[in-house]
Amino acid sequence: MSGETKTLLNVDDLRVTFPTRTGLIEAVRGVSFSLGRERLGIVGESGSGKSQTGRAIMGLTPPQARISANKLAFDGIDLLTVSPRERRKLRGKRIAMILQDPKYSLDPV
Ligand SMILES: Nc1ncnc2c1ncn2[C@@H]1O[C@H](COP(=O)(O)OP(=O)(O)OP(=O)(O)O)[C@@H](O)[C@H]1O
Ligand SMILES: [Mg+2]
Repeated sequence: MSGETKTLLNVDDLRVTFPTRTGLIEAVRGVSFSLGRERLGIVGESGSGKSQTGRAIMGLTPPQARISANKLAFDGIDLLTVSPRERRKLRGKRIAMILQDPKYSLDPV
């Protein structure tokens, strides 16, 4: 291998937990990966946490859910503590997500 790939996205032990009446649902249970400019496909059965992983990276986790991670960072920016202002600079410009059923999910916002 020649050349050095710079890590752009660093996800380490990401967890997303929803409180429910019957207890905590761990929607994402310790996901870790890091990415440079290569592509990564994540495959898993329905409900395995793919969308919630993407949402956590985008800052689109439902407000009732809790996120934890050893590291959740994009290009050195800590996505766990990023300000709303910095977040807006990233979203749609440097990080984007196409939600399921784009025909219904995509809107001008
Ligand atoms: N608002 C919520 N309250 C409680 N649990 C939720 C909520 N939203 C998602 N979950 C749970 O989070 C888990 C992961 O869901 P997610 O949508 O990330 O799965 P997925 O891998 O994208 O599935 P699919 O392939 O069907 O799109 C599921 O078990 C789901 O029940
Ligand atoms: Mg999904």
